[in-house]
Amino acid sequence: MKHQNNDDELIDFSLAAAILCQNDRGGYTIPTDGLYPFQWSWDSAITALGWLRIDEKRAWQEVETMFRGQWDNGMVPHILFHKDAESYFPGPDVWGSTDGIPSSTISQPPVWATTIRVMYESCRDRSFAKKKLQQLLPKLIAYHKWWYRERDPANTGLVCSYHPWESGMDNSPAWDDPLAAVPEVDWSYHRRDLGHVDSEQRPHKPEYDRYLYLVDFYKRNKFDSDRIHANCPYKVADIGIISILQRAGNDLLDLCQIASHMDGVEELQDELDRTSVAINSLWSADSRCFLSRDLITGDSLDQITTATVLPLFGGLGSDIQAEAMIGLIDEWLDATNFGISSTHPDSNRYEAQRYWRGPVWLHINWMIATGASDYGYPAIEQRIHTTSVDCIKAAGFWEYFDASNGNGCGGDNFSWTAAIALHWLNTPA
Ligand code: GLC
Repeated sequence: MKHQNNDDELIDFSLAAAILCQNDRGGYTIPTDGLYPFQWSWDSAITALGWLRIDEKRAWQEVETMFRGQWDNGMVPHILFHKDAESYFPGPDVWGSTDGIPSSTISQPPVWATTIRVMYESCRDRSFAKKKLQQLLPKLIAYHKWWYRERDPANTGLVCSYHPWESGMDNSPAWDDPLAAVPEVDWSYHRRDLGHVDSEQRPHKPEYDRYLYLVDFYKRNKFDSDRIHANCPYKVADIGIISILQRAGNDLLDLCQIASHMDGVEELQDELDRTSVAINSLWSADSRCFLSRDLITGDSLDQITTATVLPLFGGLGSDIQAEAMIGLIDEWLDATNFGISSTHPDSNRYEAQRYWRGPVWLHINWMIATGASDYGYPAIEQRIHTTSVDCIKAAGFWEYFDASNGNGCGGDNFSWTAAIALHWLNTPA
C-alpha cells in the first residue's frame, strides 16, 4: 500500500495502518506502547481519522469508547484509564476519579465534532454513520455546553483551561509564567515517562511538581466547579483550545442540521457568536497572531507558538488578521528545515527536542494547513503538507520531530502521526 503523493515521495501507508492495529487495545487506541498506555481524548479523535481509511466501523467504535467515559456534567476527560498500567504516572488514584471508567479530571482540546464531521463526510457507509451520529450528537452538545458553562461562567466568550495538560501542549513556553505562579507539590513521586524517553525530550521536574499540585488541587476541592473556578492558581484563556472549540462548534451545528437534531442548537450559536467578537481582545498586531492570556494576572502570553495561529483553523480571524498570520507562517517555515516548529525558533525559550518547546507535531500541521486552505492560501497549505511528508520520510511515525533535522523524538510508532498520514498525507494538498 505504498502511494505516490504529489510531493513525489513515498510514505509507507501499510506501516501506518499496522501501527494503528498494533496500538489497538480493543475499541480504543493507545498513543504508543509504554509511554502512553491509555486512551487520550484528542489523540483518539485524530486516530479515528486514520481508522476511517482502514476500517470504518472501528473508527466509530473509537469515538464511542471515548464517550463512554464522558462525565455526567458533560466533560470528556483527557485520559480514560481503561486498564491498570504500571508504566504511566499519574494514574487514577492520583487524579482521584474512580467512578465509572477511571479518568483524569480535566479535558483536552475539543476536536471531536470536527473529526466526526470529517468521518461523516468521507465515510462509505453513510447510513451506518448517520445512526452513529444520532447517538453521538446529544453527547457532543453536552460536551460543548460543558466548556462554556464550566470554563466561562462569566460569559466572556473565551473559555479557559485549568492545566497546561488541558491545552494538549503540555510544556509550551506560553505556559511558563502562569505555571511558575503555581505552588509545587510537597510529596515525592516517581516519574515513569523518563524510563521511556530521553529526559532532554521531556518536561523538567519543577514543571512536573506544579502539574501535580494542580491535579491535587482539583481533588482537594472535590471537583467542585465553583470552588475551582474561584481559586484555581492556573487559569489561562488558551488560544489553541478556543480555536479548536470554535471550529468544532461550527461543525457540530452543521452535523445537527444534517441529522435534524435541533435541541440546544440555538444556545451553541450564541456562544460561537460571542467568541467571534471576544477573540479580538487576544489579537496582537505586533506579533501578527493571537496570544493566550493569563486570567489571573491579565498578562498576554507573548510566546509565538503554533497555538497562536490556530484561529485560522477556528475561522476566528478577519481577512486582514488571516493575511498577517499567513505571512508569519511563511517566514516561520523559512526559518526551519522541517516545519512548523511548535515554538518559533527565534524565541529565547526555543528548544529543538523538548516536546512542545520546539518540535514539529503533525496533527497541528494538519490543523494549520486546513485553516490556511479555508482562508484561501493553497500555497501555504501545500508547504505545510510537503514539510509534513518530509518529517515522516526523514524518520518515520514518531510522536514529534526536531525541526532542524527531522529526527524523530518522544515515542515511536505513534498513533496520531500514523493516522494523520493516512488521513491527510495520503492525498495531495
Ligand atoms: C502528551 C501530549 C498530549 C497528548 C498525550 C498523549 O501529554 O502533550 O498532547 O495528548 O501526550 O499522546
